Amino acid sequence: MRKTLWPYPKVVAHRGGGALAPENTLAALRCGLAHGFHAVEFDVMLSRDRIPVLMHDEEFGRTVSGTGSVPAMSAAELAGLDAGSWFGSAFGGEPVPTYAQAVAFCREQAIWMNVELKPAAGIEAATGRVTAALTRQLFAAEIVAAGIDSGPDPRALPLFSSFSFEALIAARSGAPEIPRGLLVDAVPPDWCTRLEALAAVALHVNHETLTPDLARQVRGAGFGLFCYTVNDPARAREILSWGVDGFCTDRIDLIGADFPAGAAAK
Ligand code: G3P
Ligand code: MG
Repeated sequence: MRKTLWPYPKVVAHRGGGALAPENTLAALRCGLAHGFHAVEFDVMLSRDRIPVLMHDEEFGRTVSGTGSVPAMSAAELAGLDAGSWFGSAFGGEPVPTYAQAVAFCREQAIWMNVELKPAAGIEAATGRVTAALTRQLFAAEIVAAGIDSGPDPRALPLFSSFSFEALIAARSGAPEIPRGLLVDAVPPDWCTRLEALAAVALHVNHETLTPDLARQVRGAGFGLFCYTVNDPARAREILSWGVDGFCTDRIDLIGADFPAGAAAK
């Protein structure tokens, strides 16, 4: 029987709730769920005390006002910051959640997770290592089940992804059971060597740089192919016709979890 290259959902809510909620917050996860999404991508960074938290930018100023940075603050300090007001007053006081809180919510709600390791500069390996260790602890039962059961549901475990090869290598060594995808902007010439070195299951690529030929090569080599961040239904149809397995979107209002079903023809 042919192996499924991407046993994960086809459409994934980017940064929790895409463009409809403040990114990388529990409010965003609730928003994605309210739109029918049981698959989410979010970004994970380490605080000063080495607690994985949900955050995209290392430096404050965009989603958290003021000056400062994530690696300079403890998780407790980060939890007291406002990561919601930038998006709208209805989200004022929305805290920076820990990764463990996000995992707890997703597990309760049966939401599959693409966990993007987003290391602050200089702590790439630590980000992979610490997040892997915590993930291994949180998913201990599922890891055991995957080891003894020949047909476990792959969606029971998250998928790590990262632009940082170093973070992924560290994640592989800390939690080899958690699958990995390599994130790239453009597909590099040595993509296959890199994926093999990581024992990765998928390549995650900016859809704007992908071509049908590259899509065919990646899938032909036995890897899943995931794209970010696809916000136009017509473009989503196009890349799916090239064999792309899945993609994340900010437009969870336009591109439903069951896309292309239910989407208006364009
Ligand atoms: O994981 C896909 C996508 O999230 C990568 O880019 O900058 O939105 O984290 P970014
Ligand atoms: Mg991301």
